[in-house]
Amino acid sequence: MPEPVEGFSKLSKEEKIRWIAEQYTEDPEACIALLKTYWNTDGRLQRLHDEFIENTLTNYYLPFGIAPNFLIDGKLYALPMAIEESSVVAAASKAAKFWLTRGGFTTKVLGTEKIGQVHFIYEGDPARLGEFITSITPLFFEETRPITKNMVARGGGIKKIELRDKTSALDHYYQLHCTFETLDAMGANFINSCLEQFARTLRREAISSDILEDGERNIEVVMSILSNYVPQCLVRAEVSCKVEELGADTGISPQEFADKLVRAVAIANAEPYRAVTHNKGIMNGIDAVVLATGNDFRAVEAGIHAYASRQGAYKSLTQAEIRDGVFRFWIEIPIALGTVGGLTTLHPLVKLALEILQHPSAKELMGIVAVAGLAQNFAAVQSLVTTGIQQGHMKMHLLNILNQMGATEEEKKQLVEYFKKHSATHNAVVEALEKLRESS
Ligand code: MEV
Repeated sequence: MPEPVEGFSKLSKEEKIRWIAEQYTEDPEACIALLKTYWNTDGRLQRLHDEFIENTLTNYYLPFGIAPNFLIDGKLYALPMAIEESSVVAAASKAAKFWLTRGGFTTKVLGTEKIGQVHFIYEGDPARLGEFITSITPLFFEETRPITKNMVARGGGIKKIELRDKTSALDHYYQLHCTFETLDAMGANFINSCLEQFARTLRREAISSDILEDGERNIEVVMSILSNYVPQCLVRAEVSCKVEELGADTGISPQEFADKLVRAVAIANAEPYRAVTHNKGIMNGIDAVVLATGNDFRAVEAGIHAYASRQGAYKSLTQAEIRDGVFRFWIEIPIALGTVGGLTTLHPLVKLALEILQHPSAKELMGIVAVAGLAQNFAAVQSLVTTGIQQGHMKMHLLNILNQMGATEEEKKQLVEYFKKHSATHNAVVEALEKLRESS
């Protein structure tokens, strides 16, 4: 049974590695060797990664791939994607190529507002609280000026500070519901710093307020934090073409294909069990680009899933329709991204990803990410309503199975060729490899 540890974060990296290896693994020397295999040989680069988080032992690789041929708003992009799932980049590339010859993707940013809240408890007269907040609102702006100065000079800053009465949901609960414009920054630190200053101002001014009465002046600030739900930081991406242009290599008629796509989306709108998987496929594309560009995919996930439930039931993030012989397929997602600050200026691969994307503004990146989600969904639903998902999935997974089985390069080459004409289930791959080995 391992012992609890005191002061782990103060140990050196080598000491931490030895401790974890000896306490939790059967073969400590093998564990140490494995962790060190993943160290970068460039000491400076390794130190940079070590310092991203606490208690770093080594690096955890994800493949960094490229899905080319994305025509977005008339510009040709290659999308950097960081993801472990075998078929995602292939599916994105396939959808990109499909729409490349059908007008490409168009995007529109519908809003860029971000939200932060100071949550507080006030036991007193709501009207007096309203009057008090109005009286100190200029102070909220004034006392955050050192934080907001540069952002304001670039056209952003605090846009609105509203008092919201939430007492019908929770006794004595109010909030300052604040709206921010953070331009090309994701803005988490900026927003949280402003909110914490609002909270200090609020508490201090309440204590000496002559608008509030005795027993009302001790406002309890519970917390001050940005919201990852950003329904006003919204982007739409879309593709469309005449139905007859759809059908290429699907094996069914263009009209049937269009009808099936529309029905598949309708099912995801009607049935949460399907909607979750439908949207998971969308997030395959979104997360991969979000991660490659150094953004916070947990924030993006949380906000997008909340948006998918905004009508009281969990629904599809994409929509599809056929009108006047034209097939239209689109996605609308809330997403707060940054192209400056944070990892974007630190992580060499993130910098490279942004360079590959031609140094997009945050608004452009919102469009690109929405396109990645839409393309991923198109590719997934296309397979689902035609060949079934396993055909493409297993083709991509084949190399993983062969690697698991220690196949040589020559064996891989022969079996990839073989499975172009045969269906690649796990058992079929195992059997084919065994047969190949027996015959040689
Ligand atoms: C797998 O990662 C994603 C899919 O399940 C998405 C979908 O079903 O739409 C293929």
